[in-house]
Amino acid sequence: MGATDRNPQYYCPLRDRYINMGDADILVVSREAKEDQAKPDDPVAEANIVLRRAYNEEKDEVQEICDYFWDETEFHCFDQVFDAYQCTNILALVEDETAGMISYKKIDDTLYIVILNVYPEYQGQGIARRLINEALEQGRKQGCNTAKVATTNDDIPALCVYQKMGFRFTELLSGKVADHHGDELTGFAGIPVLDEIRLQRSLESATD
Ligand SMILES: CC(C)(COP(=O)(O)OP(=O)(O)OC[C@H]1O[C@@H](n2cnc3c(N)ncnc32)[C@H](O)[C@@H]1OP(=O)(O)O)[C@@H](O)C(=O)NCCC(=O)NCCS
Repeated sequence: MGATDRNPQYYCPLRDRYINMGDADILVVSREAKEDQAKPDDPVAEANIVLRRAYNEEKDEVQEICDYFWDETEFHCFDQVFDAYQCTNILALVEDETAGMISYKKIDDTLYIVILNVYPEYQGQGIARRLINEALEQGRKQGCNTAKVATTNDDIPALCVYQKMGFRFTELLSGKVADHHGDELTGFAGIPVLDEIRLQRSLESATD
């Protein structure tokens, strides 16, 4: 499945439209102009965003979000396979609707972030930031000293989000994702999906 026949993954404020990754592109704007941009639907009141751990009863929500964004529940990164159902899954709920999810797994003293997704209708309102902060906080409580995440070379939004949250590049595994898939996929903005990019941050300092 290519970038243009996947579900819409992003919201385009200039066209007020939900778009898939192949139709997405980068536009540099001032931060001030960004604040003025339309939000998908009505902006959500902070108090109406609730984070809740998904237990067995919410397995369907976990499956739904994995299917919607990834068409799979197994994720290959850090030379391992992470199964979404074996991870801790935290849902972001907005007025009882699932808006997004972060999934992580603790291995020794490291917290691996495996999935992070916010549905297009709820993007741009700080939900990913809240989900990451929650995962980092849980990691600290469980005695982790490092958080790690892997993304792909095309995923400019993810690279922005994680760097803004204090993650730094540690490794570039050139061609790793292309080798795994066996053929060349196109990703965000039509960029070929080739490399695994690993980032990490210390859990010693708090995030904002
Ligand atoms: C990437 C994604 C998780 C961001 O979720 P979100 O709730 O819209 O993100 P937030 O509003 O919490 O933004 C957090 C920060 O990242 C930045 N950011 C978010 N989306 C961005 C984008 N598309 N381009 C550049 N920066 C972006 C925000 O500007 C914000 O920084 P700020 O607080 O300094 O303004 C979401 O767009 C998504 O799930 N996309 C689907 C596609 C996908 O698979 N992404 C990979 C996820 S790892």
